[in-house]
Amino acid sequence: MPKQHHFDVLIIGTGSAGLMSALQLSGDLSIALIAKDKLLEGSSYYAQGGISAVLDINDNFTTHVQDTLSTAKGLGDKTAIRFMVENAPKAIASLEHSGVEFTKDKDNYHLTTEGGHSHRRVAHVADKTGQSIQINLFKSVKAKNNITLFENYIAIDLLIKSHDCHGAYILNKNTHQVESFISHKTIIATGGASKAYLYTSNPDTSTGDGIAMAYRAKCIITNMEFTQFHPTCLYHPHAKSFLITEALRGEGGKLVLPNGKAFMHEFDGREELAPRDIVARAIDAQIKIYGLDCVYLDISFKDKNWIKQHFPTIYKKCQSLGIDIAIDAIPVVPAAHYTCGGVQTNLNGQTNVDNLYAVGEVAYTGVHGANRMASNSLLECVVFAKSCANHINQQSTTLTHKKFSQWDASRVALSKEKVVVSHLWDEIRRIMWNFVGIVRSNKRLKYAQHRLDQIQAEVDDYYKLYLISSDLIELRNLVQTAQLIVQSAISRTESRGLHYNEDHPQQAQQATNTVIKES
Ligand code: FAD
Ligand code: SIN
Repeated sequence: MPKQHHFDVLIIGTGSAGLMSALQLSGDLSIALIAKDKLLEGSSYYAQGGISAVLDINDNFTTHVQDTLSTAKGLGDKTAIRFMVENAPKAIASLEHSGVEFTKDKDNYHLTTEGGHSHRRVAHVADKTGQSIQINLFKSVKAKNNITLFENYIAIDLLIKSHDCHGAYILNKNTHQVESFISHKTIIATGGASKAYLYTSNPDTSTGDGIAMAYRAKCIITNMEFTQFHPTCLYHPHAKSFLITEALRGEGGKLVLPNGKAFMHEFDGREELAPRDIVARAIDAQIKIYGLDCVYLDISFKDKNWIKQHFPTIYKKCQSLGIDIAIDAIPVVPAAHYTCGGVQTNLNGQTNVDNLYAVGEVAYTGVHGANRMASNSLLECVVFAKSCANHINQQSTTLTHKKFSQWDASRVALSKEKVVVSHLWDEIRRIMWNFVGIVRSNKRLKYAQHRLDQIQAEVDDYYKLYLISSDLIELRNLVQTAQLIVQSAISRTESRGLHYNEDHPQQAQQATNTVIKES
């Protein structure tokens, strides 16, 4: 008989959003923390550049708000942005409380800068900020005896009755059994969907599971067309998904063509530190005009010891591939990096479904609008995890017992056609890269929509016939999320922020969100 678990709070995802939510919840609540892979795996672990906050006496909240709003291109929600920015110093303090040691310059934070910021305000731990955050939050979580960890457990679907969330069905990847997790409150903290693209800076976990589950549960999904492409991922046949942090440009790194000629001044006065949409499109244009495989990022003019001290991870990685970044320029290309849209929430992380919350990259809180400013994502994870946990803590006395029936696997068989799953996975990612990328057109979007609809039908058939597996769960979510991205992109008949359609190159006067809800 498959297991049935009962918890006060179920948290799906152990990135910075999930871990911080768990830590901030009252010690009186029983909490299940679920990860579909290793507990530390997820985008959070790989974050390099840092986390933004007003920490310098010459900086101020108004400027951080303004920079974020201006990057968001008319779709940023000012109230949500102000909330995030004003809570940023406290977010840094909470991380330090968990043991994160930010890089210091004498007694002050060493603050770096990245695209869109008009002031140095990015606190960091050399170039491994995410790793330090994850290791320290995880240590704190393990010390709490009200939190139970479930590694290698992948959520399939939320348990919904009368628009109220009762937990989730979750596949135990160790036993291949589907277990029911019944909870009073559920927090989705499953990260983004950049694996929908062939080339991405993200780890394998970013398959849009939370967005797809929430959509099927009738949550409001907002602004999915805004996929952020990071301008500089390492271009090398043996480097899978390795990012070259924007902080390297913040410290003066120049983008150049193979002949050493700089080009960003031709596109934007802020040159290498223009927001990411502008830099990624500029690189994409150079690659297409000159028929290049990549462009180059040059920091070699800096002293070798300085480079090794500030960017130790990048230095070592490149060195392992035969690139000495103190001598050679680094080959780079843009790749899918961040999902700006997602499950719509309010400032407490609440979705439109009762007792269901979404926090972190999976959520659309309004703080990123049409483009996310660098290093505002970890900040969003920490700030909104805290407000979500506080909201749940305030209601904990009214929790009621819930029930749900077991998963029924009596009508499905073991598949002998697993090749179908891997083929469709690959096809979706190629469609998205080729037709729904940095520069879009009506025709390419329509083609993508047509083929994704067919794939959706094929996946639905397969899902009904065969026993569930981790790859199948992700495939089902990947195609659903890809469709949401394309549907949103088609409905936006303008170019704004990260969404550029060459058939609608102008930005409309009125800025409106793209809102989707399953009927
Ligand atoms: P993640 O950290 O991605 O965690 C998702 C969790 O959900 C994982 O535990 C995963 O196993 C789990 N999960 C997913 N689906 C399921 C399921 N179905 N069932 C069970 N568990 C599931 N942002 C910044 O602000 N500053 C930076 O310097 C920065 N650098 C970055 C560098 C890289 C290489 C990348 C990829 C991103 C970077 N970002 C940065 C973005 C930022 O790291 C992410 O947006 C943020 O960490 C997301 O955190 P999260 O907790 O929402 O999701
Ligand atoms: C980077 O370090 O360039 C990534 C920062 C971010 O995604 O915010």
